[in-house]
Amino acid sequence: MNIAIITGASSGIGVEFFKEMQKETLDEVWVIARREGKLAEICEKYGKIRYRVLPMDITSPENLKNFASLLKDESPHIRFLFNNAGFGVHGDLDQADYTLQGKMVDLNVRALTEITTISLPYMTKGACIINTCSIASFVPNPRMTVYSSTKAYVMSFTKSLRFELRKKKINVTAICPGPMATEFLEVAGIDKGVSKTFDTLPYCNPEKTAKKGIRAAKRGKCVYTPRGFYKFYRLLAKLLPHSILMYASKT
Ligand SMILES: NC(=O)c1ccc[n+]([C@@H]2O[C@H](COP(=O)([O-])OP(=O)(O)OC[C@H]3O[C@@H](n4cnc5c(N)ncnc54)[C@H](OP(=O)(O)O)[C@@H]3O)[C@@H](O)[C@H]2O)c1
Repeated sequence: MNIAIITGASSGIGVEFFKEMQKETLDEVWVIARREGKLAEICEKYGKIRYRVLPMDITSPENLKNFASLLKDESPHIRFLFNNAGFGVHGDLDQADYTLQGKMVDLNVRALTEITTISLPYMTKGACIINTCSIASFVPNPRMTVYSSTKAYVMSFTKSLRFELRKKKINVTAICPGPMATEFLEVAGIDKGVSKTFDTLPYCNPEKTAKKGIRAAKRGKCVYTPRGFYKFYRLLAKLLPHSILMYASKT
């Protein structure tokens, strides 16, 4: 059984990944998020291929244990793994709720790492791991300190794992969008007027980003960044000291 697994499929770019997977030769698409109703609604609306709704909080060790057992029982061929679930928090760390910062690390870093590790035995030649990263991985973002640090982890994890898996011909790609108008902004507390940077930066289209990101992954690319503006920013991040760029990336 050839399958795709998408975490964070109940909203935002995760829905676009689900829509794109309908074009692939797969037997099932497995969707994961906490809101079962939203997942079912999206699958009903866009699903052409058989789907499986797996409602769960992926930061729960118990749920990941069940997920590992499910893979063991079904023994599928995972053709695409989208590590997409994630959230950010905006604001200075000295004013922050420490539990929320910890939950962010749990989801963006620990869950992504564990789901990948659990899934790898079911991946063979031609499979793709697609990690939703961010432009926040290019340069540290003051006022989103922990979030940008988690995305720097995702970038490093992508590059290193990709190297490990090159002989097995399993590709690993980081998709690095700039801001997108999804539930992410509300969850992060980024309303209009809160962040000059978010108010002025050009926005990325989730549909186009998903489509082009998957195309890049299938071509074996390591990083996909939408929009010329952010491609240039990525280049600057390689050329200039981050201490200078942090003034521009302060959210
Ligand atoms: N929007 C942006 O500006 C932006 C920019 C760059 C990168 N990104 C990245 O893009 C990815 C997707 O974000 P988005 O913009 O599409 O935001 P979104 O609409 O808020 O989607 C986040 C998804 O993650 C799921 N999720 C959150 N906590 C979870 C948990 N504990 N267990 C399982 N699922 C969980 C949410 O579903 P439930 O609430 O139903 O669990 C939802 O489906 C994230 O990794 C984010 O960091 C976003």
